[in-house]
Amino acid sequence: MEKGLARTDFTGLKLFSRGKVRDTYEADGGLIMVATDRISAFDVIMPNPIPGKGKILTRMSAFWFKEMEGIIENHLMTTDVRQFPEACQPFADVLEGRSMLVKKASPLPVECIVRGYLSGSGWKDYCETGAVSGIRLPDGLKESAKLPEAIFTPSTKAQDGAHDLPVTRIEMENLIGRSLTEKIIKVSLQIYRKASAMADERGIIIADTKMEFGLAPGDRLILIDEVLTPDSSRFWPKADYGEGRSQKSFDKQFLRDYLLSIKWNQKPPAPELPLHIIEKTKEKYEEALNRLVK
Ligand SMILES: Nc1ncnc2c1ncn2[C@@H]1O[C@H](COP(=O)(O)OP(=O)(O)OP(=O)(O)O)[C@@H](O)[C@H]1O
Ligand SMILES: [Mg+2]
Repeated sequence: MEKGLARTDFTGLKLFSRGKVRDTYEADGGLIMVATDRISAFDVIMPNPIPGKGKILTRMSAFWFKEMEGIIENHLMTTDVRQFPEACQPFADVLEGRSMLVKKASPLPVECIVRGYLSGSGWKDYCETGAVSGIRLPDGLKESAKLPEAIFTPSTKAQDGAHDLPVTRIEMENLIGRSLTEKIIKVSLQIYRKASAMADERGIIIADTKMEFGLAPGDRLILIDEVLTPDSSRFWPKADYGEGRSQKSFDKQFLRDYLLSIKWNQKPPAPELPLHIIEKTKEKYEEALNRLVK
């Protein structure tokens, strides 16, 4: 198996941020977002990269940004490295296929989550309170149930390794104002509905997804970051779907299940991953790409 890209260090380029998965650099007023092959689970980066994962994520995000252009403007300028600023050219080989030149925006301090199904922290919240992020749901829903309609459940953007915390709509309004909140809710739900309908035809359920928005010059609201990738969404194979249990998935749930099975305490350092888990995870990402992006 090819070796994965765990990290980049482009001397001469200024680092803008190093996230769990992406290394982002400043470039001529824009940003170069590089998706490495790092993978995280339970908010902890695994010691082994998944070869090719960054390229898959980049293709998926680029595909969805384009699909959503009719709904909202996004930050993507190009994935063609030859069109990147001159200072990036020495790194063209590494950048190829896994990077985007994007417009720099002021990110809004909320993670915009849309849920169409009851899973993960949403399911946990529902079990404890009968609601998800304060949105009351019908009684008696089972794990993984399809919600009567998709719901918007924002959270704060946690700093430095902390977990994101859910916020109510009122709290979101206090953070960014009422009209932006309304617009973001509308756009997020539209994006989710369009993507779910497309994925459904390809045998995939998008259980939930997380988006980010920013303000571009002139206070234009634009879609930023990544969109509808397995890292920001739960993708389930429709063929195996059933209520009352957790779902098999195309994405990270597979790795999560493995980590649960070995009873890792979910605190760093993460355990070294066996080769078959790396390979299987790689296959899952490839399968998601082939099924979704055609
Ligand atoms: N067009 C943009 N302009 C400015 N900032 C952006 C843009 N797109 C994304 N960002 C910001 O860049 C950062 C990208 O970070 P990244 O997602 O790699 O790591 P992180 O959010 O710190 O952690 P995690 O890996 O958990 O997501 C985020 O803070 C995001 O809000
Ligand atoms: Mg992020």
